[in-house]
Amino acid sequence: MSANLKVRIGKLELANPVMVASGTFGYAEEFTELLDLRKIGAIVSKTITLAGREGNPMPRTCETPCGMLNSIGLENPGIERFLEQKLSYLASLGSPIIVSVASENDPGEFAAMVKRLEKDSRVMAIELNISCPNIKRARGKGQGSGLIAQDPKATYSLVKSCRRFTRKTLITKLSPNVTCISEIALAAQAAGSDAVSLVNTFSGMSIDVQAKRPKIACVVGGLSGPAIRPIALRMVWEVFQKIRIPIIGMGGIMDVQSALEFFLAGSSAISVGTANFVNPRVSLEIVRGIRDYLDKNKIKDIRSIVGALKL
Ligand SMILES: Cc1cc2nc3c(=O)[nH]c(=O)nc-3n(C[C@H](O)[C@H](O)[C@H](O)COP(=O)(O)O)c2cc1C
Repeated sequence: MSANLKVRIGKLELANPVMVASGTFGYAEEFTELLDLRKIGAIVSKTITLAGREGNPMPRTCETPCGMLNSIGLENPGIERFLEQKLSYLASLGSPIIVSVASENDPGEFAAMVKRLEKDSRVMAIELNISCPNIKRARGKGQGSGLIAQDPKATYSLVKSCRRFTRKTLITKLSPNVTCISEIALAAQAAGSDAVSLVNTFSGMSIDVQAKRPKIACVVGGLSGPAIRPIALRMVWEVFQKIRIPIIGMGGIMDVQSALEFFLAGSSAISVGTANFVNPRVSLEIVRGIRDYLDKNKIKDIRSIVGALKL
């Protein structure tokens, strides 16, 4: 018999532990013809906000050594249009849908969106994106600048305020742009988050030396892809040693080898991001590769390799 790939994240049961990361799979429409979407462990929607957003000025992406920079700026139709126009299709695909939410400058909007999503049975879990580096301010007036995910107290109070409004699985997405990521993970756990996702993109920039201009209009954007993998992996490992809720690991996963690294470092599930742009079928290739690896090594259950790094 083939190895068990089922994992549990909060109340959410996944048939396999390979998800697609927010913002790199749109609302899945473009991928329909390319792969069997039912076989993906879970699909995380592009982050939505209370009101629609046009996103940042172009150019918003550029290639970098072993990765890419983006400053999309959370372009999305807003929660109501998402629920009317995007969610039915997503929910018809047959894999669990995790809806990612964020707010530019009002933490209260997170709770308002969670409240709204709680009522919708098509939504299986909610991811709080408190770590998007591509919006100007993520905290309310009088609360200083910076991301919520850069401050343990702000993380605690945001997660706590959302927890009150939902019994669905609540996932908090962490930023790598911090000194001590496990401190933030602990705050999310203490406030009732069922899991943490890590990592979002690293703050970075790139310059066109002929034009003496930044390659993306916002100057600074989020770095993703294989370039960030060793740092993301180290952060998963650090957080794994401190918390007891599951970790959804991501950052430069391109193939089964890199996916397995994240399980061994302590991820209960993984998310594929930038790699979807290179090979839209990669998530399912990773599922097959994990099964082969477990079978070849006579490992009966994916859960037994989580954090199984030998020291
Ligand atoms: C073009 C692009 C758009 C993204 N948009 C979002 C987003 O809307 N919400 C979010 O939480 N993360 C977003 N991310 C971050 C990814 O979900 C992921 O955390 C990050 O890219 C690291 O994984 P990777 O190296 O496999 O891409 C985006 C990443 C890229 C490359």
